[in-house]
Amino acid sequence: MATSRGPEVVFTTNKHLVRWVEKMAELTQPASIHWVDGSQQEYDSLCAQLVEQGTFTRLNPDLWPGCFYARSDPRDVARVEERTFICSLSRDAAGPTNNWEDPFQMRRKLKELFRGCMRGRTMYVLPFCMGPLDSPAAQIGVELTDSAYVVVNMRIMARIGLPVFKEIDKDTKRVVPCLHSVGMPLAPGQQDVPWPCNDTKYIVHFPETREIWSYGSGYGGNALLGKKCFALRIASNMARDQGWMAEHMLILGVESPEGEKTYIAAAFPSACGKTNLAMLIPPQGFDGWKVWTVGDDIAWIRPDGNGQLRAINPEAGFFGVAPGTSAKTNPNAMAALARNTIFTNVALTPDGGVWWEGMTDAPPAECLDWKGQVWTPEIAVRSGAPAAHPNGRFTAPAAQCPSIDPAWEDPQGVPLGAIVFGGRRSDTMPLVYQAFNWSAGVYMGATMASETTAAAVGAVGKLRRDPMAMLPFCGYHMGDYFRHWIKMQRLLTVTPRLFHVNWFRKDAAGRFIWPGFSENMRILKWIVDRVHGRAQGKETPIGWTPYYQDIHWTGLKMPRERFEELQTVDCMQWRKEVIRHEELFIDLHDHLPPELIYQRELLICRL
Ligand code: GTP
Ligand code: SPV
Ligand code: MN
Repeated sequence: MATSRGPEVVFTTNKHLVRWVEKMAELTQPASIHWVDGSQQEYDSLCAQLVEQGTFTRLNPDLWPGCFYARSDPRDVARVEERTFICSLSRDAAGPTNNWEDPFQMRRKLKELFRGCMRGRTMYVLPFCMGPLDSPAAQIGVELTDSAYVVVNMRIMARIGLPVFKEIDKDTKRVVPCLHSVGMPLAPGQQDVPWPCNDTKYIVHFPETREIWSYGSGYGGNALLGKKCFALRIASNMARDQGWMAEHMLILGVESPEGEKTYIAAAFPSACGKTNLAMLIPPQGFDGWKVWTVGDDIAWIRPDGNGQLRAINPEAGFFGVAPGTSAKTNPNAMAALARNTIFTNVALTPDGGVWWEGMTDAPPAECLDWKGQVWTPEIAVRSGAPAAHPNGRFTAPAAQCPSIDPAWEDPQGVPLGAIVFGGRRSDTMPLVYQAFNWSAGVYMGATMASETTAAAVGAVGKLRRDPMAMLPFCGYHMGDYFRHWIKMQRLLTVTPRLFHVNWFRKDAAGRFIWPGFSENMRILKWIVDRVHGRAQGKETPIGWTPYYQDIHWTGLKMPRERFEELQTVDCMQWRKEVIRHEELFIDLHDHLPPELIYQRELLICRL
């Protein structure tokens, strides 16, 4: 062990945990170890320390009380899918959609990378709970990290600190060990940088031993390990083994004027509208209707004793896309992020506030962009550079969202009436349709595609298959994942109805046909009506679609022809689409459930 360490206060009696921390400290050689208690006082002092280091700027407390601003290294701005690995014992268990390396070799490689990587830094021992602490569905992890930025973000995103150590000491749940380093050790006397990171990045999961090792990045899902690494990639493995589901889904509740509440989960790929839909405020014409937010990114779903699917949100905060978020498009998000929020990679205004594209109609006359350069609307016209990075984000406490559901922390979760899939598709996919049954719905989710976004490093706007919005997040073979979906139905007495939506269809001129955002309520209402057997459905080759008169149009001018354009199911386009389904299926063929092969044949026959 390093000898230069200061006094260390240990908050657990769990010998395994203490021994693991010691072993990892021996490997990474931190200057000190800080056991995180999760208190407000600790949070405040870590934030003050980040301000001192230049990582954080404290925002103007009159405008943005309790808020901080951070800029990342421009080489560390999003998830790195190419550097994300599922190191299962066999390559086949990870499947062709995941990067795989032999776990023994990977472990050897990582040990070399992590050797001494925390020199000159503090190692934080951060216990976290995904899900409400008192929920039987909750899971526990401990993240060892050398980033104080990660600690303060995790305090918003998860339940952390002493109450979690208490759970660990009860020794009733297996703890998932998560090791994280920004990969930039400091030599004695070396000046730190505001955003330490490393060009070498590894985001590695060991599904059998349920471990996470993350190296080289401090950003979002790469570094806040409770989120994608644990709550999706590791949890999807747990869920398959234990008969539940870990999904990239928002959860919302639709309440009718009569007080009927229907919960819906929806899987859209990254930056395709989950946060916005989860916080929707009903438009003109929906007096007495209300949408409640349970979660905006991840759902853990399991059947209860009555065979009804129930969902919890494993997170406690929102790590939301800033650009495009405004008082017009998402007032609930704007209220949630108005205080106690951390902003990363947006623009800083001269009055100590933040700004991003789409936040206001008029941009500020001048600000500092996400790289710290002077930005003016005139400069932007010339350079084309946005003030905020397209994947600039806010980290805000869920409890601050005005639409947060009274049951959002219910340990049993909320009952699901419908599951919705959706992608960013400029053509082919209608605004909404309903699958004929569960198997057809699993096929619908499995063959989903979406144009790529700035949430991950790589090309933007490229159409790719993204089954159930889980392509980057499924921690095992995608074919086995489809089998798990098919099997889940057998555990149910009430099967949620399955739908597909597309808010992003474009007309010949390249404009979105559908106004989206709050107007999506009209589609939610049809979905709710279908769940309760109230609305008609028109049979098409791909599923049931709404009749014009079955959508509640009060408050929106929507000519029938425009709606028909949105709902078009073009058999020629669809035949091409089905051929593209085949591309994914060929990759997965030896693990595909037979039900999906039948569904494909049936669809081809109907077309
Ligand atoms: P992740 O946090 O990456 O998982 O993203 P998300 O799925 O929560 O996406 P989010 O709600 O943050 O939306 C991403 C982008 O899509 C933002 O720029 C939104 O403005 C835009 N968007 C959301 N809903 C709609 C919609 O109904 N119509 C249109 N045209 N754009 C939308
Ligand atoms: C996503 O990319 O789907 C996100 C952001 O929700 S991150 O946490 O960085 O994965
Ligand atoms: Mn997401």
